[in-house]
Amino acid sequence: GDERIAQIQEQLKSYPNFPKKGILFWDIFSILNKPDYYRLLRDILVEEAKKISPPIECVAGLEARGFLFGPLISLELNVPFVPIRKKGKLPGNLLSVCYSKEYGPDVLEIQEGSIEHGKRVLIIDDLLATGGTMVAGCHLIKKAGANVAACLVVIELEGLKGRDAVPDNVISLIKL
Ligand code: PRP
Ligand code: MG
Repeated sequence: GDERIAQIQEQLKSYPNFPKKGILFWDIFSILNKPDYYRLLRDILVEEAKKISPPIECVAGLEARGFLFGPLISLELNVPFVPIRKKGKLPGNLLSVCYSKEYGPDVLEIQEGSIEHGKRVLIIDDLLATGGTMVAGCHLIKKAGANVAACLVVIELEGLKGRDAVPDNVISLIKL
Protein backbone atom coordinates (compact mmCIF):
# COMPACT_ATOMS: atom_id res chain seq x y z
CA GLY A 1 0.00 0.00 0.00
CA ASP A 2 0.83 3.67 -0.29
CA GLU A 3 2.18 5.06 3.01
CA ARG A 4 0.74 8.49 2.10
CA ILE A 5 -2.77 7.02 1.90
CA ALA A 6 -2.31 5.44 5.34
CA GLN A 7 -1.33 8.89 6.68
CA ILE A 8 -4.50 10.44 5.29
CA GLN A 9 -6.63 7.60 6.62
CA GLU A 10 -5.21 8.22 10.12
CA GLN A 11 -6.57 11.79 10.02
CA LEU A 12 -10.04 10.78 8.91
CA LYS A 13 -12.73 11.29 11.57
CA SER A 14 -15.94 9.31 11.78
CA TYR A 15 -19.20 10.03 13.59
CA PRO A 16 -21.46 7.18 14.73
CA ASN A 17 -25.21 7.59 14.25
CA PHE A 18 -25.03 10.56 11.82
CA PRO A 19 -27.10 11.68 9.97
CA LYS A 20 -29.28 8.99 11.50
CA LYS A 21 -29.08 6.03 13.85
CA GLY A 22 -26.98 3.13 12.58
CA ILE A 23 -24.96 5.19 10.05
CA LEU A 24 -21.22 5.72 10.62
CA PHE A 25 -20.44 9.05 8.90
CA TRP A 26 -16.94 9.51 7.44
CA ASP A 27 -16.13 13.21 7.42
CA ILE A 28 -13.90 14.26 4.51
CA PHE A 29 -13.63 17.77 6.00
CA SER A 30 -11.39 16.31 8.71
CA ILE A 31 -8.75 16.16 5.94
CA LEU A 32 -9.52 19.56 4.39
CA ASN A 33 -8.96 21.38 7.69
CA LYS A 34 -5.31 20.24 7.65
CA PRO A 35 -3.62 21.84 4.62
CA ASP A 36 -0.68 19.39 4.57
CA TYR A 37 -3.04 16.44 4.33
CA TYR A 38 -5.44 18.11 1.86
CA ARG A 39 -2.43 18.87 -0.37
CA LEU A 40 -1.20 15.28 -0.03
CA LEU A 41 -4.66 13.98 -0.94
CA ARG A 42 -4.82 16.34 -3.93
CA ASP A 43 -1.43 15.12 -5.15
CA ILE A 44 -2.50 11.47 -4.92
CA LEU A 45 -5.80 12.13 -6.73
CA VAL A 46 -3.95 14.00 -9.48
CA GLU A 47 -1.51 11.08 -9.84
CA GLU A 48 -4.41 8.62 -10.15
CA ALA A 49 -6.09 10.82 -12.76
CA LYS A 50 -2.85 11.10 -14.76
CA LYS A 51 -2.45 7.30 -14.76
CA ILE A 52 -5.70 6.79 -16.68
CA SER A 53 -5.00 5.78 -20.27
CA PRO A 54 -5.92 7.02 -22.79
CA PRO A 55 -5.85 10.40 -20.99
CA ILE A 56 -9.04 11.88 -19.56
CA GLU A 57 -10.45 14.94 -21.32
CA CYS A 58 -12.86 16.26 -18.69
CA VAL A 59 -13.52 16.02 -14.94
CA ALA A 60 -17.13 15.88 -13.70
CA GLY A 61 -17.74 16.45 -9.98
CA LEU A 62 -20.75 15.22 -8.00
CA GLU A 63 -22.36 17.86 -5.78
CA ALA A 64 -21.45 18.69 -3.12
CA ARG A 65 -18.36 16.95 -1.85
CA GLY A 66 -17.09 15.98 -5.32
CA PHE A 67 -16.64 19.74 -5.84
CA LEU A 68 -13.89 19.76 -3.18
CA PHE A 69 -11.61 17.67 -5.41
CA GLY A 70 -12.75 17.90 -9.04
CA PRO A 71 -11.48 21.41 -9.81
CA LEU A 72 -8.09 20.65 -8.21
CA ILE A 73 -7.67 17.70 -10.59
CA SER A 74 -9.00 19.48 -13.68
CA LEU A 75 -6.56 22.38 -13.25
CA GLU A 76 -3.55 20.06 -12.91
CA LEU A 77 -4.57 18.07 -16.00
CA ASN A 78 -5.62 21.21 -17.89
CA VAL A 79 -9.07 19.85 -18.78
CA PRO A 80 -12.55 21.31 -18.18
CA PHE A 81 -14.38 20.86 -14.87
CA VAL A 82 -18.13 20.22 -15.19
CA PRO A 83 -20.63 20.10 -12.30
CA ILE A 84 -23.27 17.43 -11.78
CA ARG A 85 -25.75 18.97 -9.37
CA LYS A 86 -28.84 18.14 -7.40
CA LYS A 87 -32.20 19.13 -8.91
CA GLY A 88 -32.97 22.80 -9.36
CA LYS A 89 -29.46 24.20 -8.95
CA LEU A 90 -28.25 24.48 -12.57
CA PRO A 91 -29.53 27.00 -15.16
CA GLY A 92 -30.22 26.39 -18.85
CA ASN A 93 -31.19 23.23 -20.69
CA LEU A 94 -30.56 20.17 -18.57
CA LEU A 95 -30.31 16.41 -18.73
CA SER A 96 -31.48 14.60 -15.59
CA VAL A 97 -31.39 11.18 -13.97
CA CYS A 98 -33.34 9.88 -10.96
CA TYR A 99 -31.47 7.90 -8.34
CA SER A 100 -32.15 6.47 -4.92
CA LYS A 101 -30.47 7.47 -1.68
CA GLU A 102 -30.92 6.02 1.76
CA TYR A 103 -33.44 8.79 2.42
CA GLY A 104 -35.50 8.26 -0.75
CA PRO A 105 -35.40 9.28 -4.43
CA ASP A 106 -33.50 12.31 -5.71
CA VAL A 107 -32.48 13.80 -9.09
CA LEU A 108 -29.07 14.76 -10.48
CA GLU A 109 -28.66 17.15 -13.41
CA ILE A 110 -26.01 18.24 -15.90
CA GLN A 111 -26.12 21.12 -18.37
CA GLU A 112 -26.76 20.10 -21.96
CA GLY A 113 -23.68 20.81 -24.07
CA SER A 114 -21.40 21.13 -21.03
CA ILE A 115 -19.30 18.18 -22.23
CA GLU A 116 -18.26 17.62 -25.85
CA HIS A 117 -19.62 14.41 -27.36
CA GLY A 118 -17.26 11.44 -27.17
CA LYS A 119 -15.00 12.98 -24.53
CA ARG A 120 -13.41 10.72 -21.89
CA VAL A 121 -14.69 11.87 -18.53
CA LEU A 122 -13.42 11.22 -15.01
CA ILE A 123 -16.22 11.37 -12.42
CA ILE A 124 -15.06 12.36 -8.93
CA ASP A 125 -16.72 12.14 -5.53
CA ASP A 126 -15.60 11.92 -1.90
CA LEU A 127 -17.22 8.61 -1.05
CA LEU A 128 -18.79 5.51 -2.58
CA ALA A 129 -21.43 3.97 -0.33
CA THR A 130 -24.36 2.15 -2.02
CA GLY A 131 -23.18 3.54 -5.36
CA GLY A 132 -26.53 5.17 -6.15
CA THR A 133 -25.00 8.60 -6.65
CA MET A 134 -22.12 7.36 -8.83
CA VAL A 135 -24.43 5.18 -10.96
CA ALA A 136 -26.59 8.25 -11.66
CA GLY A 137 -23.44 10.21 -12.54
CA CYS A 138 -22.38 7.55 -15.05
CA HIS A 139 -25.82 7.59 -16.68
CA LEU A 140 -25.75 11.37 -16.98
CA ILE A 141 -22.35 11.41 -18.67
CA LYS A 142 -23.62 8.88 -21.22
CA LYS A 143 -26.87 10.81 -21.71
CA ALA A 144 -24.66 13.78 -22.55
CA GLY A 145 -23.03 11.69 -25.30
CA ALA A 146 -19.69 11.36 -23.52
CA ASN A 147 -17.83 8.34 -22.09
CA VAL A 148 -16.89 7.50 -18.52
CA ALA A 149 -13.13 6.84 -18.41
CA ALA A 150 -13.24 6.09 -14.67
CA CYS A 151 -14.96 6.92 -11.40
CA LEU A 152 -12.61 8.16 -8.67
CA VAL A 153 -13.49 8.33 -4.97
CA VAL A 154 -11.43 9.05 -1.87
CA ILE A 155 -13.32 6.54 0.32
CA GLU A 156 -15.04 3.29 -0.61
CA LEU A 157 -17.29 1.57 1.93
CA GLU A 158 -16.56 -1.91 0.62
CA GLY A 159 -19.23 -3.69 2.66
CA LEU A 160 -21.99 -1.88 0.77
CA LYS A 161 -20.75 -3.26 -2.57
CA GLY A 162 -21.40 0.00 -4.40
CA ARG A 163 -18.62 -0.90 -6.84
CA ASP A 164 -20.74 -3.79 -8.16
CA ALA A 165 -23.58 -1.40 -9.02
CA VAL A 166 -21.40 1.05 -10.96
CA PRO A 167 -21.24 0.24 -14.70
CA ASP A 168 -17.74 1.73 -15.12
CA ASN A 169 -14.29 1.34 -13.59
CA VAL A 170 -14.08 2.52 -9.97
CA ILE A 171 -10.80 3.73 -8.43
CA SER A 172 -10.78 4.24 -4.64
CA LEU A 173 -7.95 5.34 -2.38
CA ILE A 174 -9.18 4.36 1.10
CA LYS A 175 -11.20 1.17 1.49
CA LEU A 176 -13.20 0.93 4.72
C1 PRP B 1 -22.88 11.48 -0.02
C2 PRP B 1 -21.47 11.33 -0.51
C3 PRP B 1 -21.65 10.66 -1.87
C4 PRP B 1 -22.89 9.81 -1.65
C5 PRP B 1 -22.52 8.38 -1.48
O1 PRP B 1 -23.43 12.62 -0.63
O2 PRP B 1 -20.83 12.60 -0.64
O3 PRP B 1 -21.92 11.63 -2.87
O4 PRP B 1 -23.53 10.29 -0.45
O5 PRP B 1 -23.65 7.58 -1.23
P1 PRP B 1 -24.17 6.49 -2.23
O6 PRP B 1 -22.99 5.76 -2.80
O7 PRP B 1 -25.00 5.60 -1.35
O8 PRP B 1 -24.98 7.17 -3.29
P2 PRP B 1 -24.77 13.34 -0.16
O9 PRP B 1 -25.75 13.29 -1.28
O10 PRP B 1 -25.22 12.77 1.15
O11 PRP B 1 -24.45 14.85 0.16
P3 PRP B 1 -23.38 15.96 -0.29
O12 PRP B 1 -24.15 16.94 -1.12
O13 PRP B 1 -22.89 16.52 1.01
O14 PRP B 1 -22.24 15.37 -1.07
MG1 MG C 1 -22.09 13.62 -2.08
